Amino acid sequence: MEAQLISNGSRFSTLPRCYVRPEPDRPRNSESEVYHNAPVIDLGCGDRQFIVQQIAAACTNYGFFQVINHGVAKETVEKMLEVAREFFALPVEEKMKLFSNDPSKTTRLSTSSNPHKEKIHNWRDYLRLHCYPLENYARDWPSNPPSFKETVSQYCMEVRELGLRLQEAISEGLGLDKNYINNSLGEQGQHMAINYYPQCPEPELTYGLPAHTDPNTLTILLQEMHVTGLQLLKDGKWLTVRPFPNAFVVNIGDQLQALSNSKYKSTWHRAVVNSHKPRISVASFLCPNNDAIIKAPRQLLDEENNSFYREFTYSEYYEKFWSRNLDEGHCLELFKN
Ligand code: OGA
Ligand code: NI
Repeated sequence: MEAQLISNGSRFSTLPRCYVRPEPDRPRNSESEVYHNAPVIDLGCGDRQFIVQQIAAACTNYGFFQVINHGVAKETVEKMLEVAREFFALPVEEKMKLFSNDPSKTTRLSTSSNPHKEKIHNWRDYLRLHCYPLENYARDWPSNPPSFKETVSQYCMEVRELGLRLQEAISEGLGLDKNYINNSLGEQGQHMAINYYPQCPEPELTYGLPAHTDPNTLTILLQEMHVTGLQLLKDGKWLTVRPFPNAFVVNIGDQLQALSNSKYKSTWHRAVVNSHKPRISVASFLCPNNDAIIKAPRQLLDEENNSFYREFTYSEYYEKFWSRNLDEGHCLELFKN
């Protein structure tokens, strides 16, 4: 069955069958634990070497970390969340004008993940936007709410600055030149997914997003306070990452796993849903240029000069990613040497 928007103004009293996971593949929310030691890195601490070290340690051990004092203004973040809430509160007819399941569209509202291909759908609607360069894309973004374009453009610019700074620190942590990652990935793309997870009548039976790794370079995720949903796989356990005040969650994507020759891992993560409150998250994805060749630099090869993955272009990877289902396993496996 073709999936429909679930933020359609009506309340579901039971979970439609096409969202129900088989018994072994359910979230077991009652057993999930909070990730108490989730690293939080203060980018405003003034000690750059310390920041680089902490990021390197987090990328090696977890593939993820949170950042505070990150340079994105509080007002920018608050406005971003507010306009996201307003957007998803629009009447369903208004939202449907933007509906498309074609991943090549640069502005589209969709639902689940890959509704044509997957057998079981996910309890999520999302607005997906290409964001760089802004002048190529922002004009096609929603004009309702009226402040959408301006608010989201500002957010995208500030988050991009943060992402490029983080990639400098990650380069240094890998023992590479500060500009190595940013130079080798070319003029980097930027995409955004504004995720909306409505209240779910039976959250034990489904996911907002099932376990996946992100196909891009680096993801900067904004979570709303006071509602949880994001979980990471750590030592075989799914742990809930509680929203931390004024923080972003940063995770390594598949491209940094390939570029670092698997020193840094693209973290498995997922989103679970709940029955009492809708949840919004805003994921910003930095992506290599489509023509960028992804490979590990000489310094990161093993003693025999081997790398885990063959060289590929980002466009090749991206096409492969969208031709599969999220739960078909790690896409990077298909690029192994
Ligand atoms: C994503 C993602 C997690 C969340 O959009 O890729 O992993 O908590 N989102 O919404
Ligand atoms: Ni993700």
